[in-house]
Amino acid sequence: MYVAVMGYGTVGSGVVEVFNKNHESIVKRSTQSALEIRYILDLRDFPGDPNADKFIKDFNIILNDPEVKIVVETMGGLHPAFEFVSSLLKAGKSVVTSNKELVAAKGYELLKMAEENNVNFLFEASVGGGIPIIRPITQCLAANEIDEIAGILNGTTNFILTMMIEKQMSFEDALKLAQDNGYAEKDPTADIEGQDACRKICILASLCFGKHVYPDSVHTEGITKIALEDVAYVRNYGGVIKLLGRAKRLDNGKISAMVSPAVVMDGSQLASVRDVFNAILVRGDAIGDVVFYGKGAGKLPTASAVVADVIDCAKHVGRKKAFGWGPSEDDYVVDYKTLPTSLYIRASVADKAAALENVEAKFGKVRVLTRDNAPETEFAFVTGEDVEQTLCDKLTEIPGLTVLSSIRITDY
Ligand code: HSE
Repeated sequence: MYVAVMGYGTVGSGVVEVFNKNHESIVKRSTQSALEIRYILDLRDFPGDPNADKFIKDFNIILNDPEVKIVVETMGGLHPAFEFVSSLLKAGKSVVTSNKELVAAKGYELLKMAEENNVNFLFEASVGGGIPIIRPITQCLAANEIDEIAGILNGTTNFILTMMIEKQMSFEDALKLAQDNGYAEKDPTADIEGQDACRKICILASLCFGKHVYPDSVHTEGITKIALEDVAYVRNYGGVIKLLGRAKRLDNGKISAMVSPAVVMDGSQLASVRDVFNAILVRGDAIGDVVFYGKGAGKLPTASAVVADVIDCAKHVGRKKAFGWGPSEDDYVVDYKTLPTSLYIRASVADKAAALENVEAKFGKVRVLTRDNAPETEFAFVTGEDVEQTLCDKLTEIPGLTVLSSIRITDY
């Protein structure tokens, strides 16, 4: 049986490397007598690459080769990945992808296409890099109703926040280091503004709750506004700032879903997740909390998940894997401002004592926070829990107080 790889960037070249390195055991585990990479599609040239005989530039060669039964899509982006993958599924080839943008936008459509053509569309590497999470949710935890899911889903931002927390490194220096290590997307905006984590929580929520959750329905905030001042206040409060993707089943059949920086208290399993590592907490009605942890980005960890999917496709030729991922529904994700939360607030004020009096007149007792070398005009506190819109309205009504930073507190 033959395999083709489309896209020879960080992940694609990692797939070929892992495939070649562990070839013998991969073939054995695939239950096929042979499993070979026949083509690598990329428009760029790779002089001196040991796989020189496999490079092609024309997609149609893969599409029209009846011996290629499994295609790996590691090109990234929505177009032409969507058109290529659609054509391949319709041509009766199984597709494996690491492309979260594609799965988040077109997962339902592509799974339906795969089903209609009796092939598989697998995407374990699209969330959590090398961490097994798609298969555990859809198979190992299938007996549960999943109530909630929350995770550190982006390695780049977790790396940046870790450098800010532990080394007081500037945001810019930490981002540069993450890029040099190959963690960041080509355009790191998708990492630091939260879109990458948003795509991943959409995929997880679609799988957990059964209806396609589109990225544009999920409120998304990145980490670009987090300052070292916030890091210091939250440390003194006994927590850390993490970029979390979260989704929850609500009683009315709808869900909540959001990506934002969040205060995670020390003692939470998510608080100790450092560096490029990801962790995903799944709350099921039978299992309780279960946490999946590992390297969420990088060449070989991601390739590990892709190649495992290739093996799975090879084992399941002519048999479809079902995901229970249905179409979306209008207003399925509720407005985040209607949900309860408590907030960490850092504000600029003219007079701290007057600010505390005014804040407590609105919010009742608040927890005042401190940090070393804070200027007299800076005031930080944590509110009690209320509907987010109500908290925000109250903040705007406090005279002489300008909010500089506002971060939700979590209790995972
Ligand atoms: N840029 C992504 C991250 C890569 O940093 O997590 C893995 O999806």
